[in-house]
Amino acid sequence: MTGTIRASGAKNAALPALAASLLASEPVELTRVPAVRDIRTMRHLLDHLGVRSEERGEALVLHPDGEPADGEAPYELVKTMRASVLSLGPLLARRGHARVSLPGGCSIGVRPIDQHLAGLAALGADVRLEGGYVEATGRLVGGRFRFEMPTVTGTENVLMAAVLADGVSVLENCAREPEVADLARLLVRMGARIEGVGGETLTVEGVSELGGARHEIIPDRIEGGTYLVGAALTGGDVILEGAEPADLAPLLEKLADAGARVEPGERRVRVRAGGGLISQDVETSPHPGFPTDLQAQFMALMTQARGVATLSETVFENRFQHVPELVRLGAAIEVKGHVAQVHGPTPLSGSPVMATDLRASACLVLAALAAEGESVVHRIYHLDRGYEDMEGKLQHLGASVERVSGPEPG
Ligand code: EPU
Repeated sequence: MTGTIRASGAKNAALPALAASLLASEPVELTRVPAVRDIRTMRHLLDHLGVRSEERGEALVLHPDGEPADGEAPYELVKTMRASVLSLGPLLARRGHARVSLPGGCSIGVRPIDQHLAGLAALGADVRLEGGYVEATGRLVGGRFRFEMPTVTGTENVLMAAVLADGVSVLENCAREPEVADLARLLVRMGARIEGVGGETLTVEGVSELGGARHEIIPDRIEGGTYLVGAALTGGDVILEGAEPADLAPLLEKLADAGARVEPGERRVRVRAGGGLISQDVETSPHPGFPTDLQAQFMALMTQARGVATLSETVFENRFQHVPELVRLGAAIEVKGHVAQVHGPTPLSGSPVMATDLRASACLVLAALAAEGESVVHRIYHLDRGYEDMEGKLQHLGASVERVSGPEPG
């Protein structure tokens, strides 16, 4: 893979930004919203909840003035996308009532939302579980809440509730992912009062109303990181433009340690293959640790590195579903609990493989590009949830890749 590409806007920053429009009394204009299926699903949900959205040039404009169909986030929408739960905090804060389906299980683990619910209860909400739905009601008042673990969407949900609560809230042990900070910056633009943005304690002084705002979504560090891993894996040279190197630091350090030549610059990063790859151990952890969303792609890289790489997944319990598929391509990987050991390098040869979730799909596409011969990656609709025009970007980088069936509708 060789050439220059531009990072898309971050899916996981755009999703809460769209949900934040539920809090506004005037239009919210977002730029750099990626054209991916999860965003379409969120727009569909917001439409249902009374927020109309339209594309205007480069921007997505959200109008929070419509009549909600029934004011609840139904199971049919939540089951296809867990991030629908991000409607809970804003609905409750703005309307005093929210009814949102429980997300249920998902392929990378159980993923409960107990911390979202406990945080809202700490702000005075009456939270009940009934018939597979969360029902939350009440007038919110400022409170103190400490998350048991740093949860990304949990922090976002409780933050979106606190901005309209009566009084001051102190949220501790918040997730420090750049996407959480991006949401906080949008909320501040809408009139919210938040201190500690980017840190683990957020102090929020509630306001009675939030207005509109214009906001550009941050670059997608996971999407960009995927192509940079691809550069190192395929002996290539990729310049990623419109990126934020600081947000990519945990990956860039590992790529450099593995032998790739890494050149961070102003809003850009270049990664070139070096003399040969050396195995690196990785343990995923909340930001600023190594992101779980890049673990699968890094594992594809480690199949071509010399030595034994120990990859520990500490964030999600079931995020090694790409392993049997990598083994089909020729990798030598053993899994024990949440630890995978990759013995490399092993030659990869093309074969049919099956994608199981978004990041596993990206890992398999990268591995297939490094393999000798043709591979067919099935169920790539998972990819369409979070990668904007992946085959276009890969083709631009010189990869031989084509989509042989249409995208999933939705
Ligand atoms: N957790 C709980 N209780 C809660 C919330 C979380 O036990 O109330 C646990 C989870 O089960 C997990 C850990 O805490 O073990 C961290 O989960 P987190 O809540 O941070 O994950 P999330 O908010 O559901 C977001 C991203 C994921 C990303 C994770 C971790 C969005 C929309 N999703 O999920 O992105 O993997 O943070 O960084 O922001 C992806 O894009 O492929 C993706 C899965």
